[in-house]
Amino acid sequence: MFTHKPIRRFITLGQFIIERQSDFPFAKGELSRLLRDIGIAAKLVNREVNKAGLADILGDMGETNVQGEDQKKLDVYANEQFINALRSGGECLAVASEENEDLIEIESPVSQNAKYVVCIDPLDGSSNIDVNVSIGTIFSIYRRKSDRIGTTTIEDFMIKGTEQVAAGYVIYGSSTMLVYTTGKGVNGFTLDPSIGEFCLSHPDMKIPEDGVLYSINEGNYTHFPDGVKKYIKYCQEDDKATNRPYSSRYIGSLVADFHRNMIKGGVYIYPSTGKSPKGKLRLLYEANPLAFIAEQAGGKASNGFDRILEVQPESLHQRTPLFIGSKNMVEKAEELMRIHSA
Ligand code: AHG
Ligand code: MN
Ligand code: MN
Repeated sequence: MFTHKPIRRFITLGQFIIERQSDFPFAKGELSRLLRDIGIAAKLVNREVNKAGLADILGDMGETNVQGEDQKKLDVYANEQFINALRSGGECLAVASEENEDLIEIESPVSQNAKYVVCIDPLDGSSNIDVNVSIGTIFSIYRRKSDRIGTTTIEDFMIKGTEQVAAGYVIYGSSTMLVYTTGKGVNGFTLDPSIGEFCLSHPDMKIPEDGVLYSINEGNYTHFPDGVKKYIKYCQEDDKATNRPYSSRYIGSLVADFHRNMIKGGVYIYPSTGKSPKGKLRLLYEANPLAFIAEQAGGKASNGFDRILEVQPESLHQRTPLFIGSKNMVEKAEELMRIHSA
């Protein structure tokens, strides 16, 4: 007799987004389409990342971006892909990107009345491109504040992270994943290269409350605030009850360091340093989106003293110190910051 095995159902990113649209009773599908557009651009970027060692795409463009950092070809490519996807999708009014000094207005008739603006770090961890180490993309979506008719203003971006409607990251790693939240938990999708689809692989992600990994560029040690120096010593002390000493792990791609800590538990710290007195990472397209995801997964994100999501942005490329990851680890670091660095 013929018996057929039940087929294991897999859920693609596209299906998942549509199913979840009912979480937002008044949604008309614009946010779903915007997320879909970002997913498509991520696949195109992934394709180039995978052949970075082969193609001429590897290497410097010989230009510097607005932060004065060397811009690699893949940064430029990724920036173009995401902006093109947002332009042709029609749901995005304007983009703030790490790679562009000013905000980019999407000038197309279909985008005139778009509801959303996007902040993006198109390629994070770019110093790792040449060495075949994981890199990423980080994005954040806000509802526009300006009038529904007419052009955008910078005020559409000077909005606290608490108001994000969605945020996510893509990690181009040993496998490629897209992880995002719309404020109702965090879900992770792994790209199945054989069918070219992101498939739900990590439903309802939760970051462990405690961890044994700390991630910080200790090369900057002498320039760290005292609170951070004390926290590093705390991580290195022997204490069986709290599983110390912790292990140190630092990839140098924020997305990859954050993703590992999300899954295993851990803390990532980029404090102020001598070279970067206000921190190195950018509030709008690095700290805020990951802070939203961390909190949605039960973790925490702060600048050492205050919740990242409540920091009032004052400029597009504003920097911030970042302490992010497992709740109890971030709280311990904050405690030492209050005592030694307030
Ligand atoms: P980007 O490649 O987008 O400029 O970001 C680099 C960031 C971040 O990914 C990483 O965690 C950090 O810079 C590493 O900085 P250091 O090399 O100073 O540790
Ligand atoms: Mn970055
Ligand atoms: Mn970048």
